[in-house]
Amino acid sequence: MKRFPRTFLNVITSTARRKIEVAMVKVCSLSEIPPGTLKGLQLDDGRRVLVVNLDGELRAWDGTCTHEEADLSTGFLLGERVTCPLHLSQFDLNSGEAVTPPAKTSLRKYNLKVENEEIYVDLD
Ligand code: FES
Repeated sequence: MKRFPRTFLNVITSTARRKIEVAMVKVCSLSEIPPGTLKGLQLDDGRRVLVVNLDGELRAWDGTCTHEEADLSTGFLLGERVTCPLHLSQFDLNSGEAVTPPAKTSLRKYNLKVENEEIYVDLD
């Protein structure tokens, strides 16, 4: 087994730790998103995150419509679907699938975690 100097390992582990910390983004507090609501967050790099509370089950998706980049957090949540405010495509918030045209591409799913009543999304 190859041996690495301790300083090298410290650099590697601190870089990995920093990457993990950067990838987790706080979206909102749990109390800000009751069942049947959604919350959007615009990141500095232009990406959007959409968090939805489906009867107590939290899910996180890319918040930009896959058709022409509308902000889905300004759309309409009905049951387990969100409707894009621009051309009315609907996305299934269990699978991310675009279920009505004109959008054809599914939303990207993000993992999330709740820690100390705060919701964090993993952007990796
Ligand atoms: S931008 Fe969403 S359906 Fe066109």
